[in-house]
Amino acid sequence: MTQVNLVIFGIGNVGSTLINQLIDFKPDLRLQHNIDVNISFVCNSKKGLYTKNLDLNWQSIFNTESKNYSVNTIEEIVSQYKLENVIVVDATASEEFVKEYPFFIDKGFHIVAANKVANTLDYEFYKTLRQKLAKTKKSFLYETNVGAGLPVIETIKSLNQAGEKVKKIRGVFSGSLSYIFNRFSNESIQFSEILKDASNKGFTEPDARDDLSGKDVARKLLILGRELGLQKNLSDVKIQSLVPHELNGKTTLKQFNNRVKELNPIFDKSKSEQSDNKVLRYIGELDVENHIFSVKLISESRETPLGQLKGTDTLFEIYTEAYKNRPLVIQGAGAGKEVTARGLFSDIMKIAKTL
Ligand SMILES: NC(=O)c1ccc[n+]([C@@H]2O[C@H](COP(=O)([O-])OP(=O)(O)OC[C@H]3O[C@@H](n4cnc5c(N)ncnc54)[C@H](OP(=O)(O)O)[C@@H]3O)[C@@H](O)[C@H]2O)c1
Repeated sequence: MTQVNLVIFGIGNVGSTLINQLIDFKPDLRLQHNIDVNISFVCNSKKGLYTKNLDLNWQSIFNTESKNYSVNTIEEIVSQYKLENVIVVDATASEEFVKEYPFFIDKGFHIVAANKVANTLDYEFYKTLRQKLAKTKKSFLYETNVGAGLPVIETIKSLNQAGEKVKKIRGVFSGSLSYIFNRFSNESIQFSEILKDASNKGFTEPDARDDLSGKDVARKLLILGRELGLQKNLSDVKIQSLVPHELNGKTTLKQFNNRVKELNPIFDKSKSEQSDNKVLRYIGELDVENHIFSVKLISESRETPLGQLKGTDTLFEIYTEAYKNRPLVIQGAGAGKEVTARGLFSDIMKIAKTL
């Protein structure tokens, strides 16, 4: 039986769902895969808890027994309890925490991350991290960075490794923006109302401008581009932000929410300019051959897979030599704590099977 020890940073939506999935599936993992996944340490930004045999009541134990910690605490625990095969899971969105990755790799730990920051900091950091991983033979997996539980990064990596030249990637990369434009294009409803509804349903970030600014889509595009060997930075992505200048970050969130109706005439105009068989879609596009990264609002035929998107689905079209005219398409829920946690779980298993 291979024992794997997990150190889970971040017990918010995704982290806590992952813990529950791991507890739930633990007996089957032992039986079916001969792998014993032990959750050794869980923490938020302030408190941490060394654990053994967690059950589904773990949150109340965390609330009463967790203590202040630092990354050195993890090192002490690993050495005191002789923990082997340690995988650090990053279910935070913290830039601060990513700076600890080199420390963890030096200690011999593997990393699985939902956090996109490590892959979107400057290219120098990206390169140095990979050099360190190669030298220490440690793994860093991050399938959930793009498309949550969908196998987007893995597919692109496999195509690339098999010599199948990826020429273009295009699609709706954001579940929240998918929802907004899928509804806006098909219903007679104001843009601000859909935005409010998407926010109430928890589809957008607390500040919807984080979605509308296009930065999150740009990050995903950059991650895919770097996966294909393009040495680019976030500043190389041409972003058409959907937030007008007068409502950008200099305006407080409260002011933005009060003035959100100012978006309506802008999007009404874009909609009225569409012919009957076209819909609006906010897409990411990577022209691999010309190294052009763009995030933009486009007019798309209702008949294409992109034009037919529903709900919060994301969709990735991958054009290659072989998939030249009809792209390889990956589509499905591209956000949500269950699918994202399942994606992390799958990355953990990929590493566990190599140990
Ligand atoms: N939700 C999705 O559908 C989805 C999909 C794909 C990827 N992701 C990514 O998954 C990550 C987590 O998302 P989420 O929705 O679970 O966020 P969340 O609910 O806000 O949870 C974040 C967790 O991270 C903890 N944290 C923050 N900084 C930390 C630090 N320096 N050290 C340790 N813990 C720290 C927070 O602790 P405090 O409570 O103490 O601040 C909290 O427990 C993000 O990077 C997100 O972009 C999410």
